[in-house]
Amino acid sequence: MSQTIHVAAGNEWWRNAVVYQVYPRSFADANGDGTGDVEGIRSKIPYLAQLGVDAIWINPWYPSPLLDGGYDVADYRSIDPMFGTLDDAKHLIADAHAAGIRVIVDLVPNHTSWDHKWFVAARAADPGSPERNRYIFRDGKGDHGELPPTNWSSVFGGPAWSRCDDGQWYLHLFDISQPDLNWDNPEVREEFCDIFRFWIDLGADGFRIDVSHGLVKDPSFPDVDLASEILTVGHIDNHPHWDRDEVHEINREWRAVLDEKQADLGKELMMVAEAWVKPGSVPLYLRPDEYHQSFNFDFLGCPWDVSQMRASVNRALVDAASVNSSATWVLSNHDVVRHATRYGLPSGTDYQEWLMTGPAELCDRALGLQRAKAVTMMLLALPGSTYIYQGEELGLHEVNDLPHDVLDDPVWRRSENTRKGRDGCRVPIPWSQTGPSFGFGDNAPWLPQPPEFGAQSVQAQDGVDGSVLEFYRSALALRSTHWVNSGDLTWLDLGEDVIAFERNGFACVTNFGVNEFAPPHGELMLASTQPQREGVIDPNSTAWIDLR
Ligand code: NOJ
Repeated sequence: MSQTIHVAAGNEWWRNAVVYQVYPRSFADANGDGTGDVEGIRSKIPYLAQLGVDAIWINPWYPSPLLDGGYDVADYRSIDPMFGTLDDAKHLIADAHAAGIRVIVDLVPNHTSWDHKWFVAARAADPGSPERNRYIFRDGKGDHGELPPTNWSSVFGGPAWSRCDDGQWYLHLFDISQPDLNWDNPEVREEFCDIFRFWIDLGADGFRIDVSHGLVKDPSFPDVDLASEILTVGHIDNHPHWDRDEVHEINREWRAVLDEKQADLGKELMMVAEAWVKPGSVPLYLRPDEYHQSFNFDFLGCPWDVSQMRASVNRALVDAASVNSSATWVLSNHDVVRHATRYGLPSGTDYQEWLMTGPAELCDRALGLQRAKAVTMMLLALPGSTYIYQGEELGLHEVNDLPHDVLDDPVWRRSENTRKGRDGCRVPIPWSQTGPSFGFGDNAPWLPQPPEFGAQSVQAQDGVDGSVLEFYRSALALRSTHWVNSGDLTWLDLGEDVIAFERNGFACVTNFGVNEFAPPHGELMLASTQPQREGVIDPNSTAWIDLR
């Protein structure tokens, strides 16, 4: 591991942004129907500005039957009436911009909803028709075509093919309601270039691209040996549908659209890839004519382990610099068990199994939260941008005891009720200490909140010294003044149990050991845990120190 890590030059906003992820269904419900909405998000812009974020990424808000939380899009140029209208979206973007917050929208190019007009037409059309050629329809195997064309599995469980009434099969790498588009078809390509332009014209500053590593399929449609799993996808060489070389051509096409619009409008645009690929492949997505950024899922996948985390940070920084990009740091999102919970579970725990069978006490919640704060401080001090998932600034844990009859995730359905899926991190945000939905809206929320949400609400933490919310506010404020322009990073070798680095006279030291640790001399700027004794860093904690 080299001692000093170079940070690529460039002052575009996205290189250092703190991006706050808003899951619209669960953020704030302005009209009291139990589901969050655009007006709800808009009403919280002052909260987000006070928190100190630079941008928000909004999960899909398009018309959708919501069979996969909105990642089943029926119309890419509109807003689901449940969430509001296009005018509401415009107002939200305008308010966000007025508060200095940029807006990233979520684009879903791998598949549409089966309610999309293209798929409705494809189903009604004949095999071999232009309508079917926008998707991936194939004849089946077996004497009568009764077997799926390949053995590919859906990421959510079960086969990746479903059969139409006329006997042909269509591909859906996710839910049966999410048919995969055919990216060999120029019409599909042109459509998405247009969709990018549509949202840029509406005011969007960036795009988060769903399943960016899955668009291209091997035209010979071979079988695979391994079942596809959401966290391991893209780790197999020459996989028939993950991380294929041809996907980079599409990335370039989109980048050209963004670059052209950027030149026209004179504003910096960006796109960030959701690419679950092996770390070695990530820089390929970040070449100067492809994505600006890619989510760093390698670090997200690290357990609380000093050497794994150190190696992962180092690799991400070196990789990003090698292509003049910037690293991204992300601990939670709407697809994974919240990190306060992950770090409180014994390492090696199978989270989905734990969600099904417990016991709840296996998670040491206090320890998990303590570690979560420590890692957050480490990431905020690193070069690159940080993605914060709504509610982590309140210290929320995964809601692990949602009753079976409220579960809505297709993972629950498609795994035949053997995996609960992702609803536990999607429970609506508590804004106040009391009320039917702890201030989320005026009525019961679409997923039930646990009683402890009252004490974890924004109202309960606002202005309270030592609260997680105030910790985030302080950390973000100090980050913007002390770390953002701090340049290169130098690793400090302070021992096996510590991750420590220095940037421009400031040190960030995280103690992974079981004993307190005495850091280099300097002024303590912030600590993730109030130390037991002055001048030390407690176990499972991070300190920022001004060495100057
Ligand atoms: C990744 C999204 O983050 C996830 O929520 C969704 O289920 C799949 N892609 C399919 O669109």
